[in-house]
Amino acid sequence: MIALGSDHAGLPLKRVIQAMLDDMGIPYKDYGTYTTDRCDYTEFAYKAAVAVASGECEKGIICCGTGIGISIAANKVKGIRCVACSEPYSALLSRQHNDSNMLAMGSRVVGSELAKMIVRIWLEGEFEGGRHARRLENLKEIEYGRYLKE
Ligand code: RB5
Repeated sequence: MIALGSDHAGLPLKRVIQAMLDDMGIPYKDYGTYTTDRCDYTEFAYKAAVAVASGECEKGIICCGTGIGISIAANKVKGIRCVACSEPYSALLSRQHNDSNMLAMGSRVVGSELAKMIVRIWLEGEFEGGRHARRLENLKEIEYGRYLKE
């Protein structure tokens, strides 16, 4: 299950991604927003991020105007590794090296076809583990205020 979220600016791109997931037969849950009324990206980043962090959803894809605000907000939730991407290389590497569990994109930055390519590559990417796993542990230590304390 993929958690989706957006603010008003990201809504059109979220709709494109929803249609793509429908075509691919991938289930998703949309945590809003559902209209183009102006709203705060924090609310929808938070709801989607909590769904991923709790295990209710396996991954999340979120959109705002730039992908920046919504990714910053999602990354405030413990356990979230959200990447704002506007090209496929970083999207793939974020899965292979960083085990990213959320992808953020900006509807004012990437066009629909590029966004779909980024989503496809991100969904297919697999975490490589190994030396990268230790760095994820370090990230967790930062989250809990234990990093480099001893
Ligand atoms: C909304 O106008 C815009 O600021 C928001 O979608 C996002 O781009 C913020 O980072």
